[in-house]
Amino acid sequence: MIEQVNLAIVGCGSMTYNAHAPWVNATGEIRVIALCDTNRAAAEKLRRERFKDDAHIAIFEDWRELLKCRPAGIAGVLFATPHGQHYDQCMAALEQGWHVLVEKPMVTNSAHARAIISKAQQKALQVQVAFQAPFSAQHAYIREFIAGGSLGALQAVGGFVFQDWRRLSHGTWRQEPAAAGGGFIYDSGAHLLNAWNYLIGRPAASVHAMISNEGLAVDVNGVVNIRYQSGVLASAVFCGNSVGWQEGIWLAGDRGRIASGIHGGRMELWDQQGRQLPLPLIAQANYTPPQNFALSLLGRAAPRSPARLGLLHCLLMEAVYKSAATGQEVAVEQE
Ligand SMILES: NC(=O)c1ccc[n+]([C@@H]2O[C@H](COP(=O)([O-])OP(=O)(O)OC[C@H]3O[C@@H](n4cnc5c(N)ncnc54)[C@H](O)[C@@H]3O)[C@@H](O)[C@H]2O)c1
Repeated sequence: MIEQVNLAIVGCGSMTYNAHAPWVNATGEIRVIALCDTNRAAAEKLRRERFKDDAHIAIFEDWRELLKCRPAGIAGVLFATPHGQHYDQCMAALEQGWHVLVEKPMVTNSAHARAIISKAQQKALQVQVAFQAPFSAQHAYIREFIAGGSLGALQAVGGFVFQDWRRLSHGTWRQEPAAAGGGFIYDSGAHLLNAWNYLIGRPAASVHAMISNEGLAVDVNGVVNIRYQSGVLASAVFCGNSVGWQEGIWLAGDRGRIASGIHGGRMELWDQQGRQLPLPLIAQANYTPPQNFALSLLGRAAPRSPARLGLLHCLLMEAVYKSAATGQEVAVEQE
C-alpha cells in the first residue's frame, strides 16, 4: 500500500508559506518533491525556511516545465497562484494525469469550472478546492445537522466579512480584474459564499446584489441577498475597506440556531427554546486541505471540497455581478 503522496507546489507566496507548508509538514502522508514559483527566490526561501532546505526538493520557475518533467512518483499538484491562472494550470495538470488541489476560487468563470469538472471525470482524476471550511469538523457536522433536520426547517442565513483588504492588496494582482477575476467578494468573500453553498445543501436560485468598487477596478464593498432553491433566504455584507479581520455566519432554523465562522473551525448551537447547548462531541474528522487531498488519494477519506463547489461559486458570482450591474434580482444559472 502506498503510504505517502508525492506533491508538487506551484506558487510559493503568502498562502503557501503561512498555511500550506505548515499543513503539509503536519501531514505524514505528504512528501513535497518540487516547488515552483516564477520568483525563484520565493521558492528557495520556502524550501529553506519551511522544508529544512531539503536538497531532494527540486525547484522550478516554470510550471509547464514542471509538468513536462514529471518528477518520478508524483501524484498531485497544489496550485496557490493568482486566480486568473488556475484554469490553464489545472487543465494542463489534468491533461497530463496529475491530481489537483487548487486554491480558492477554483477558477474565475463557470465555463472554465465546467471544463475542469469534465476533464477530471474524463481522466478519472481528483480536483479539490482549498476552501478551509468544508474540511473542518464543525462544518461537516453542521452540514449533516441541517440535512438531518435537527435545526428544523432552515429559514434564513446571515453573514459578514470585514477586512483591510484594500490596503493589504494595494499594488498587487488582487486588484487587477484579469488576474483576480473579481475583488474582495471574489477573494475573501468567497469563503463565506462557499460555506453557505456547502452547508445549505441546495444551490442558490437567485441573487440581488449591490456593489461598490470605491474607485478600484474590482469590488471592495458589497451586499448580497440570495434566495436558495429550498426557499431559504440569505444576506451577506462584505467590506474590504475596513480594519483588521472579522467575520461570522448565522443559520436560523425553526427549531434552532447555529453560529459559525467562514473558515469553519468554530460553532455555537441554540435549541428550540433558545437555550445555548453545550458543544457536542463531533464525530466528523477535521482535516487541513492538503491532508484530506492526500488521504482521499490514498483511499482513506472522502474528498470534502470537490470541484463542484468551485462551479457553484462561479455560478453564484456571475449572478452577483450581473445583479449589481442591472439592479435586478437575477436567476443563478444551474449546474
Ligand atoms: N484559503 C485561504 O484562506 C487563502 C488565503 C490567502 C490566499 N489564498 C489563495 O491562495 C492563492 C495565492 O494567494 P497568495 O496570498 O499566496 O498570493 P501571493 O501573491 O502571496 O503568492 C502568489 C505566488 O504565486 C507566484 N506566481 C505567480 N504566477 C506564477 C506562475 N505562473 N507560476 C508559478 N508561480 C507563480 C508569485 O510569484 C507568488 O509567489 C490565491 O488563489 C488566493 O486566493 C487562500
